[in-house]
Amino acid sequence: MRENLLVLGLQWGDEGKGQVIDVLADRFDLIVRFQGGANAGHTVRVTGEKFTLHLLPSGILRPGKLCIIGNGVVVDPECLLEEIKELNKRGISVDGRLMVSDRAHVVLPYHKTLDELQDAARAKGKKIETTRRGIGPCYADKAARRGLRMVELVEPAALRRRLEEIVPAKSKELTEVYGGRPIDIDGLYAELLGYADRLRPFVCDTLPVIADALAGGKPILLEGAQGAMLDVEFGTYPFVTSSNVSVGGATVGTGMPPSRIGRVLGVVKAYCSRVGGGPFPTEQDNEIGDLLRERGDEFGSTTGRPRRCGWLDGVALRHAVAFNGADGIALMGLPVLSALPRIKICVAYRLNGQTVSCVPADANALAQAEPVYEEVTGWQRDISKVKAFDDLPQAARDYVAVIERVVGAPVEMASVGRERGQIVRRTPNG
Ligand code: IMO
Ligand code: MG
Repeated sequence: MRENLLVLGLQWGDEGKGQVIDVLADRFDLIVRFQGGANAGHTVRVTGEKFTLHLLPSGILRPGKLCIIGNGVVVDPECLLEEIKELNKRGISVDGRLMVSDRAHVVLPYHKTLDELQDAARAKGKKIETTRRGIGPCYADKAARRGLRMVELVEPAALRRRLEEIVPAKSKELTEVYGGRPIDIDGLYAELLGYADRLRPFVCDTLPVIADALAGGKPILLEGAQGAMLDVEFGTYPFVTSSNVSVGGATVGTGMPPSRIGRVLGVVKAYCSRVGGGPFPTEQDNEIGDLLRERGDEFGSTTGRPRRCGWLDGVALRHAVAFNGADGIALMGLPVLSALPRIKICVAYRLNGQTVSCVPADANALAQAEPVYEEVTGWQRDISKVKAFDDLPQAARDYVAVIERVVGAPVEMASVGRERGQIVRRTPNG
């Protein structure tokens, strides 16, 4: 029986999770998203065609695979329908193989408005620079018990009742706190009914589906969004997203017991990127960062924003490996480094005259941290045609060995390009 697998980003998102999940999805029966929402942008390239998925699990590109949007995801109905339509246009049907948890919360138009207004109200230097997808306000409402769930969305009377309960206070918040426009309940109701009609066939209780798969020994692939350093608990708070990006989020966001998670594979880029505000000790706001951005095509797939780029942060990565219990690493983006004569990896921070090897809880402290680097020689060779891990240049394998030593987890596979199939495996797990 194949073990279940959890695939997580271990940095600040955009590690290449889409490519890894696409390549692994073949071996699993179910692919499940468990947190986040349309803030994610998972890119999969199949024979030159590029797909960017925001809410749909990346497994949807594999014919016949059952995909679940779990209860922990916050679902923007408009965005989901748009994605389904886009796939249909490109000849991919989701009918009969997409399920959306009836417990998942709905991102409402006012969540997106609030997201924008709240970030605008933050002082310079304090802005989170969110994706404006309404993620934070929706999770806040979920925790405050004034959210709308899919189960209510698809039942008109329940929807109306729920909107009457929750909207007046939100409308007050929008107008009185942020100077926004009041919410028109009738208009909102009409808009949501339209979405509900089209989404109804997909909405169901996904718990028994997952439980049956577990009981029947059908392997499940759990697809994380964002990255560990954006985790609301262990990330660079408050410059984080609003969900549990971590291994814990996978259980609460699906109803899968922790004992059944199986293996944890962390997706790691061979350098770092971050989009939005917040501390980033290894950032290279110089020609190195520019080179990484250009070669790595580091522009947001959800927002189009240029990403901040820098060297691999081994301290942050060790932290992420530890709190997620990552069994192995998928190392992405190696070819981006192929042009560099020297490559650096941060192995500790200098903070207040001391050398530290942990990530401080305080984002202000982290912003002050000076990276201590180890340097390796670059391979300066095209690796895109490499077919086996052992055929990578010695210098690249040396870099991999340094990463493994610094972060304490084995590299099980590496990407040598962005196309489906451009991943070389190193172990049977990989
Ligand atoms: P994937 O799944 C990169 C960042 C935003 C912002 C912060 C909070 O593609 O790796 P939010 O909209 O979630 O409230 O924004 O988190 N962020 C991401 N950065 N990749 C993502 O997802 C991200 N999702 C959110 O830029 O700094
Ligand atoms: Mg992204």
